[in-house]
Amino acid sequence: MKKILFAASEGNPFIKTGGLADVVGALPKYLDKGKFDVRVILPKYLCIPQEIRQKMSHVTEFYADMPRGKEYIGIDKAKVEGITYYFIDNEHYFAGDSPYHEVFEDVNKFAFYSRAVLASLSKIRFRADIIHCHDWQAALIPVFLKEFYGQDPYFQKTKTILTIHNQKFQGRWKIDDIENCRDLPPDCRYRAMEAYHETNFLKAGILYADRVTTVSATYAQEIQSQAGGEGLDGVMRKVADKLSGIVNGIDNEEYNPMTDPMLPASFGGKRISGKKKDKKELQRELGLREDNSAMLIGIVSRLTEQKGFDLVNQIMEEMLNTMNVQVAILGTGEERYQESFRYFGQKYADRVSATIGYSEECAHKIYGGADAFLMPSQFEPCGLSQLISMRYGTVPIVRETGGLKDTVEAYNEIWQTGTGFSFANYDAGEMLMIIRYAYDVFQNHPKEWRMMMKRCMKADHSWQSSAGNYEKLYQEL
Ligand code: ADP
Ligand code: GLC
Repeated sequence: MKKILFAASEGNPFIKTGGLADVVGALPKYLDKGKFDVRVILPKYLCIPQEIRQKMSHVTEFYADMPRGKEYIGIDKAKVEGITYYFIDNEHYFAGDSPYHEVFEDVNKFAFYSRAVLASLSKIRFRADIIHCHDWQAALIPVFLKEFYGQDPYFQKTKTILTIHNQKFQGRWKIDDIENCRDLPPDCRYRAMEAYHETNFLKAGILYADRVTTVSATYAQEIQSQAGGEGLDGVMRKVADKLSGIVNGIDNEEYNPMTDPMLPASFGGKRISGKKKDKKELQRELGLREDNSAMLIGIVSRLTEQKGFDLVNQIMEEMLNTMNVQVAILGTGEERYQESFRYFGQKYADRVSATIGYSEECAHKIYGGADAFLMPSQFEPCGLSQLISMRYGTVPIVRETGGLKDTVEAYNEIWQTGTGFSFANYDAGEMLMIIRYAYDVFQNHPKEWRMMMKRCMKADHSWQSSAGNYEKLYQEL
């Protein structure tokens, strides 16, 4: 039995800001329990809701040597659907109303987290064969492991994998200002960890980890190019032989239109009439005109530049003025996008709804009730929203980048194949053209549209298939 420890800054159902939490919360469940003992270790943020914190029980506590002196580390644990989660407790680092704050604070916080993970393993008696680290927040684990525990027999067999969920986020700060990195050897701090005169957690992790993966095959290629490498393409090319892309899946139990308790009506298989009710109910709840003939486009997203909202803003008026389209937006993020969506929501009150905030329930209702799902990302390592929307028969309209390219098959009207609509260039006109095409199929070829909905719902994007690729990787290591 191989012991695998997932180390990450978020994980469902405890704390989530985006797709990383979905992956960390779902993938462990789908790994073969006969071969792998998989556990997860997360920070115990004070912002984890009280009713969820109640599920945790205290395991142990101790003080560890850190650059600031002896620091408290508490360990709690909880079991969810057969998976054991550990939580690193330290209220000095993990306070506040969200997991992430200012970069300066975050780099030091996650350096602490990474050290605390390694210091905790012997205390919880989990001698990991593999520590599977996710994103820059856990990227220093391979670094501390080699630099501080290289001679420690307890860790002699421990290997590390770093999975990059988004290369844009690297954990960068002034080299000498990160207290919890201060005792690393100068050669490490000023060479391996350095990029463009700053400390770069992700770069260090990439160099120190035994294997590096990212969340789709196309993104694995893109991050080796200057256009997609976010400044680290040279490093990515250098480690190309230990880099691979494994596409994400979704938790088919959590996202299931047949059993989803948040949907007013269930649907699935051959019976999809429930979806019509869900659309009507969604329109009613959001104050949109109850019009079944309008093509209702859903958006559920972090509102950031990455997600392509500049394109949406550019074409919104023209789209609304030339087609019977409605838009239901759910998201939080940058003020400029919140503002513009609020503006459209007020101007076109019965056709555009902008819910600014984070809500699982509203997200499920949009996935369930919308006709199409728009995701015109500038770049997208994998993307889970398009996978969830397909599962709910909501046809994705996406830009051909990263995981969107790998998971959405473009509609072919001759062969009647495909699971969505896609466009290549990051261009508002091109996007509008493809929305018009989708609209034409929706309005004028309802039978073809229904067939596409069914293909979407049948397509298998569950973890069942992708988890096997991680299992292979674990075995190889
Ligand atoms: P990313 O991780 O880049 O944000 P993904 O598509 O991989 O993008 O995953 C986003 C996840 O977060 C999906 O599960 C999506 O439903 C969810 N999500 C994003 N924004 C919100 C929101 N405002 N409310 C509820 N869920 C959201
Ligand atoms: C990141 C990416 C997204 C991916 C998610 C989970 O947040 O932006 O594309 O699906 O991580 O891997």
